[in-house]
Amino acid sequence: MSNSLEQTLISSIRNIPDYPKPGVMFRDITTLLGDARAFRRAIDELVHPYAGSKIDKIAGIEARGFILGGAMAHQMSAGFVPIRKKGKLPHETVRIAYSLEYGLDEMEMHKDAVAPGEKVILVDDLIATGGTAEAAVKLLRQIGADIVAACFVIDLPDLGGRKKLEALGVDVRTLVA
Ligand code: PRP
Ligand code: ADE
Repeated sequence: MSNSLEQTLISSIRNIPDYPKPGVMFRDITTLLGDARAFRRAIDELVHPYAGSKIDKIAGIEARGFILGGAMAHQMSAGFVPIRKKGKLPHETVRIAYSLEYGLDEMEMHKDAVAPGEKVILVDDLIATGGTAEAAVKLLRQIGADIVAACFVIDLPDLGGRKKLEALGVDVRTLVA
């Protein structure tokens, strides 16, 4: 990725100290999403390694992974699968508890959202401790998905999330650290 793209993306992300808890520097991508050029360039960069590959589904993690994942799915002519916080999905689900940089939660997805062997790319805006993405990988594998990669706009490398996913055998792609 070019330095100029990295700079465009970094300068479009807003940093909010002590949100949602004291000591956390929150990386706010709403400013990136609101910048037409930065948003387009981020999506183009996320999808380009898979040009010509058959990807069946993009799985996006609530909530910011929905925005990126919807745009990626459209551009790749893939389906979109929402991985949601508990209690939001109407049909039969698989569910898992997880921890993240600033809390605990549970996520779920529909059992029939991915057919066994389908090729899936997981996406979220950011990987910090990797607790959220690790849980999503476990759910996807539980229903038989073949995870081609996990993609994030932002990596917080000091928190170790990338290594956690790589230890599970997942190919991790991030745009800025
Ligand atoms: C944020 C972010 C990731 C997760 C990363 O979501 O969008 O999903 O935290 O943290 P981790 O790597 O330490 O697990 P959040 O739970 O704040 O949910 P939201 O997008 O619904 O606000
Ligand atoms: N999710 C976990 N840690 C985060 C951070 N520092 N900024 C935005 N989202 C996050």
